[in-house]
Amino acid sequence: MKVLVVGGGGREHALAWKLASSPLVTEVVCAPGNPGTARVARNVAIAATDSAKLVHLCRHEQIDLAVIGPEEPLCKGLGDELRAAGVKVFGPGAAGARLEGSKLHAKEFLTRHRIPTAGYRRFDRSGAAKAHLESCTQWPQVVKADGLAAGKGVFVTQDAREACAVVDALMEEKRLGEAGVSICVEEHLVGEEVSVLAMVDGQTICVFEPVMDHKQVGDGDSGPNTGGMGVYSPVPTFTPRLQRQVEQNILIPTLHGLRQDEVDYRGILFVGLMLTDAGPRVLEYNCRFGDPECQAALRRLSSDLVPYLLATAEGRLGELEPPSWDPRACVGVVGAAEGYPSEVRRGDVISGLDEAEAVEEVVVFQAGVKRSGSSLVTDGGRVLCVTALGDDITQARTRAYRAFERIRWDGKFGRSDIGSRRTARAR
Ligand code: AMP
Ligand code: GLY
Repeated sequence: MKVLVVGGGGREHALAWKLASSPLVTEVVCAPGNPGTARVARNVAIAATDSAKLVHLCRHEQIDLAVIGPEEPLCKGLGDELRAAGVKVFGPGAAGARLEGSKLHAKEFLTRHRIPTAGYRRFDRSGAAKAHLESCTQWPQVVKADGLAAGKGVFVTQDAREACAVVDALMEEKRLGEAGVSICVEEHLVGEEVSVLAMVDGQTICVFEPVMDHKQVGDGDSGPNTGGMGVYSPVPTFTPRLQRQVEQNILIPTLHGLRQDEVDYRGILFVGLMLTDAGPRVLEYNCRFGDPECQAALRRLSSDLVPYLLATAEGRLGELEPPSWDPRACVGVVGAAEGYPSEVRRGDVISGLDEAEAVEEVVVFQAGVKRSGSSLVTDGGRVLCVTALGDDITQARTRAYRAFERIRWDGKFGRSDIGSRRTARAR
């Protein structure tokens, strides 16, 4: 089989790496890919959002399965266009991806289908939003831009002044462009966060091993939100009982809701949850693998991924046994470029990748990286993710950090507490 991976980040490197290991696959093609995917696949210089060229590529190269990584092409309907051209696609069409593309659509969906989530109000005008916030007696309040914002559209605000400043930045100054023209003001939930990823083929749900992300930029969960600074899996607090509860109360009702809304969803349904005292609540839906959740999940997946992606695309996931997972733990530490998650510096030379991968059970997935002559240089906020397996989280963490320390570029930084959050919180 010839498989196309659309995208060029760390998630797509992990997907290409896993797909290339399948005996069913003759070639993995990546559009546009990155220097990391070039090690396991053939990169073609087509942007992930250039749907006309991607349709042509799939036809011309007789691609048997297209796997769409990022949210932007999914939300723009790449899945629909490829399907219309007769290509088998892993990834929902625009109607399904809207669960991620519009937070207000997601909140309306959650409310309509009675799926547990935080209470919210919608605002399309800044004056009304600020008047509401001025009258709030309970703080914090969470202000969210409606549209896609690469993890940067959510603000947990402590008082009316801070919240109104966010409203002005989003709705008046349009700091996030069209994404912030409408907003959602949401009740602040307290608890532990966990991401649940499941493959959904329109009928059947197949849940992945849980992965814990670390969204804030600084140690001890300080500073602004990012796309994710590191991960660990398994998640001891996510017990089998809790998993059943999430399936019953959240995943199955979501699938029913999609079916009621006549959305044939085929791809990853990624649910961000807050485990509150009153039970799990949905914080957000994503329509794709999380990044860096994907990297840790695929390191732990012992089954071949291809049959699952293909069965999802063909709507026959129910025919397969659940996948098997490596019982070992995985820790993934993201290395970021100076300035992230704000404006980042690019072009710093990266060294030490081979030394890092010489550490036992370590694989480095590249993200914001490009080639410049014979060097690899930084080219984005999240530069790479160092993943390591170990007998337990502690061993995986020790290996991941040992490898992480061996990689160098000017301005490199990462969190030092990935995988130790529970101890950090208890202190
Ligand atoms: P989202 O992109 O909606 O998942 O939001 C990004 C992050 O903001 C989440 O991972 C949470 O840490 C935080 N967040 C979002 N919504 C809420 C909420 N209602 N209560 C508390 N924290 C939230
Ligand atoms: N790591 C969070 C995300 O991919 O949305």
